[in-house]
Amino acid sequence: MPLVEVRDVRKVYRRDTVEVPVLDGLNLDIEQGEFLALMGPSGSGKSTLLNLLAGLDSPTSGSIRVGGEEISSMKPKRLAAWRARHVGFVFQMYNLIPVLTALQNVELPLLLTPLNKKQRREHAETALRIVGLEERMHHFPRQLSGGQEQRVAIARAIVTDPTLILADEPTGDLDAKSAEEILDLLGRLNAEYGKTIVMVTHDPHAAERAGRTLHLEKGVLVGDGARPVAAGAGAVSGAGAGAGAAGGEEGAR
Ligand SMILES: Nc1ncnc2c1ncn2[C@@H]1O[C@H](COP(=O)(O)OP(=O)(O)OP(=O)(O)O)[C@@H](O)[C@H]1O
Ligand SMILES: [Mg+2]
Repeated sequence: MPLVEVRDVRKVYRRDTVEVPVLDGLNLDIEQGEFLALMGPSGSGKSTLLNLLAGLDSPTSGSIRVGGEEISSMKPKRLAAWRARHVGFVFQMYNLIPVLTALQNVELPLLLTPLNKKQRREHAETALRIVGLEERMHHFPRQLSGGQEQRVAIARAIVTDPTLILADEPTGDLDAKSAEEILDLLGRLNAEYGKTIVMVTHDPHAAERAGRTLHLEKGVLVGDGARPVAAGAGAVSGAGAGAGAAGGEEGAR
């Protein structure tokens, strides 16, 4: 069974009396341990799809299952709890809290878990070590470079050991060298830690790091099945999701 199963999802935004259809019967399977790149023109609905996978928004119709759980029909409170447990989100503009140190930013998602203070600190330190920033943990965001800020944001995304890492143009605001470092890091999280990653990007070079690239066009996904998939075999439009999801051991710690 694929980790993520999107079936016949439609998303229509309503502006006053005008309906804006964005996703139009979209199907997608994502295997455990995949690194998937999502491309497509501006306004094609990439962020919309990522937000749906994150449970930040719900589809107009259709089904989204993650780990066998139907998230598209969860009530807001249950969905928030699900999200805290299963999703790590990385934004283009990092979205760190300026008055908190790197360590405090990374600890933040753990406040929603039963971990005590000491455990939270240990987990946050481990996540910062994984992204190579243990020496900067007491720095504030403004004392860090853009690339370092994004690494803190990635540490914050992985600290809860989520099922899915969703990244919306994570290198969109970075210089070429910092972008390369972020892509290296995402690649390592996938290859070494078995993390399942969906990354939206406009950069074909960035997409090359992924095991599979899909293009969003006119509300549906158009595949590029040519390249091998990192782990497990994914499928577009229900075209026969193979078994054999390898996925490595869960756990960034
Ligand atoms: N909350 C909203 N209300 C109304 N329309 C919206 C809303 N969010 C997005 N849209 C519209 O849905 C379409 C898809 O937007 P989305 O942000 O998903 O595109 P995108 O592919 O991520 O674009 P970009 O590459 O510029 O980030 C756009 O036409 C946008 O204007
Ligand atoms: Mg977008």
